[in-house]
This record gives sequence, structure tokens and C-alpha cells, in this order.
Amino acid sequence: MLSAESLKKIDVELAKYPADRHRSAIMAALRIAQTELGWLAPETIEFVANYVGIPPAAAYEVATFYNMYDLKPVGKYKLTVCTNLPCALRGGVDAAEYLKNKLGIGFGETTPDGKFTLVEGECMGACGDAPVMLLNNHKMCSFMTEEAIEAKLAELN
Ligand code: FES
Repeated sequence: MLSAESLKKIDVELAKYPADRHRSAIMAALRIAQTELGWLAPETIEFVANYVGIPPAAAYEVATFYNMYDLKPVGKYKLTVCTNLPCALRGGVDAAEYLKNKLGIGFGETTPDGKFTLVEGECMGACGDAPVMLLNNHKMCSFMTEEAIEAKLAELN
């Protein structure tokens, strides 16, 4: 299900906790699985839960609580736009609308070519760089004016 490399990374996370606290590594383990497979299918969550040694239901609780876990396939580029208040006051909603029009999709949707998925995000703790957008859950994009969005899309195309 997962590559030897991913399992090794999960082992590193597991080693950070005492044997009876391995459940604490579940968030990292799910992230590692998602990074390799692109999203978390039910069987992936179950596999990771078993590997970490916790009930699958406990892993589901984590995977369904945090919005950085993708429970269905996403596009090659997942764009998460923050629309919380500080970002909204500095153009976050406008940035989201611009992306919706530009890509022809709404929040939670993927372009027909499978390239972009657009997601509405919560505060990412980078309000000073508002409006912000997260690329593939890992790369923060700051000051997303229309020009910056155009430049980012051109970079990704
Ligand atoms: Fe957008 Fe904080 S409100 S990063």
C-alpha cells in the first residue's frame, strides 16, 4: 500500500513516542501517506491505522477533522484560499472569486483536466501576508493579488 520509503518515514515518527503513545504519530503518518498517494482512501486510512497500531475509527476521526487531509482525489494542484476575516479584509474573498472565474470551478471542485482543485481554507496563521493561498498543503503563497495569482497559475501551467 505504501512505499518502503514512506513506511520508513512513519517509523521515524513512531520512534518519537513511547510504545504506548504511538497513536500520537497518526497525524504525521496520515500526512506521509497522503503525500505519497495524493489522497486518503478509506483503505489507506485503515492501513495507516493498523500500521500505527490504533483502531481505524480513531484514524478516521483525525482524517475527517482536519481539512488538510483529502478524503477524495484532488487535482495535481490543490489551491486552498484563506477567506477568514483578516484575509477577507485584504482581498481573500476577491482572490477566491478570481480563481473560481479563472478556473471555472467552485470550492471543493476540480477542473475537468484534473489539474486544479479549489478549496476554501481557514486561517493559516499568516494573516500578515494576506491574502494567502496554500499550494498542495505545503507551500504558502503570500499577497495573492490578481497579478500574483496569474503569475502563480502561469508557473503551474
Ligand atoms: Fe488568512 Fe489568517 S486569516 S491567514
